[in-house]
Amino acid sequence: MPFDLLITQGTAVTTDAVFRANVAVNGGKIAALLSPQDMPAAGQVIDAAGCYVLPGAVDAHVHLHMLTAAGIYSADDWCTGTRAAALGGVTSVVDFIQALPGQTLMEALHERVDDARDAVIDYGFHTTIHPDEAPIGGVNKRVSDYRIGEIRQAADAGCPTFKMYQAYSGLQVQDADLFRALRAIAEVNGLACVHAENGDVLQALRDAVTSPAELVNGLNHARTRPAIQEAEAVNRTIMCAELSGARVLIFHISCDLAGSVVAGAKGRGLTNVFGETCPQYLVFTDDKLARPDARLWMCAPPLRPQADLDALWRKLKTGVLDVVSSDHCPFTRAQKDLGAGDFRRVPNGMPGIETRLGLLYEYGVRAGKISLNDWVRVCSTRPAELHGLRSKGRLAPGYDADIVIFDPDSPRELSAAQLHSALDYSVCDGMTCAGWARDVLLRGRAIVQNGRHTGRAGDGQFLKRSF
Ligand code: URP
Ligand code: ZN
Repeated sequence: MPFDLLITQGTAVTTDAVFRANVAVNGGKIAALLSPQDMPAAGQVIDAAGCYVLPGAVDAHVHLHMLTAAGIYSADDWCTGTRAAALGGVTSVVDFIQALPGQTLMEALHERVDDARDAVIDYGFHTTIHPDEAPIGGVNKRVSDYRIGEIRQAADAGCPTFKMYQAYSGLQVQDADLFRALRAIAEVNGLACVHAENGDVLQALRDAVTSPAELVNGLNHARTRPAIQEAEAVNRTIMCAELSGARVLIFHISCDLAGSVVAGAKGRGLTNVFGETCPQYLVFTDDKLARPDARLWMCAPPLRPQADLDALWRKLKTGVLDVVSSDHCPFTRAQKDLGAGDFRRVPNGMPGIETRLGLLYEYGVRAGKISLNDWVRVCSTRPAELHGLRSKGRLAPGYDADIVIFDPDSPRELSAAQLHSALDYSVCDGMTCAGWARDVLLRGRAIVQNGRHTGRAGDGQFLKRSF
């Protein structure tokens, strides 16, 4: 019987091998990895000569159309955001549901699935656990028993990964609630994903910055969120996770000190602790925060000095850090300008949904810091495994035919004009990647061909995840 599709003459990259192969696809699934000489009949043939053939990238930390405490939305909606993702080689994203006051998590999930109806790639949702009286702004309160009780429901509905914040007024969970939630997450065999910064300490540091000259100085964004407060929060989370038995992924690790806490936990034999970092912490230093337009590079945790970047690459290579996600949270220049005179009012977050695979190839693989196998591991395979995307992340028979044909010799300028976020600037302006995603398949169907999006709004499906 002929295959639906055959991808010929490419170089397949998996977590443990790089080899010439023809990839056969049937019914939206990978059917076989064949030798380059094996050319069975197929309905369609794509020539991948000179290209790497990878499992579609999985970005398990994005914020599309996210409402902030200041009442503004992150700049990309599901249409622009997932289109940009697809054009960068991403075939699945995991975003967030966050219940409004008086809303159940299931109501929030239904609203969010409706919001995502135009997605062009597959998508899932982490469940945010926050003080349920004042989720957007307001003072920190407690997480109710009702909300903790919803953890099982959320897991059953396909959202078994739970975000908690240790910082941000209105979202910050107290230690008691972190621990209560972790116990409930352990009971459903879920995964906790924690924004680990010590919110009380960084608030005290920010409150002490008062003069107009200090408030306009972008470097104070990083000085008021020092590495040690991040590492403290990471340590507290890991200890609580150990006590509760829950699996925990520390989101967006930005510095050596915080990464070393994860390394220490893994070194003690803990198998329930994982670490994520993001491209911005691997390619940008805190020099960006000395610029007059520093606010375009403000995210939390903040950018760090070069020594931290070097350490994070090493920790990625050795597996201390498991995954790289974009934490895509774009704001337009006008939105960022809300904090023009006061860094504390800048909406935190940077774009990155489209550039992650290209940047990690350029600054990781080509720079000799990680291998091709590591690249696939941290961008596709481990994110899929860690977040319960059971049919994604591997170039192997039986898995969804989410496939990237990556041309290593296709230079791409990372200017706003070349990228597809709904932004009027690029944080990567002036940077070039030597290679880029040429074609992208979603469940066996081409959604990007020769660098152009050829899919349709609504191609994406909700991913009911489980462990
Ligand atoms: O600065 C960041 N990371 N913004 C996105 C929201 C979050 O904290 O993950
Ligand atoms: Zn985030």
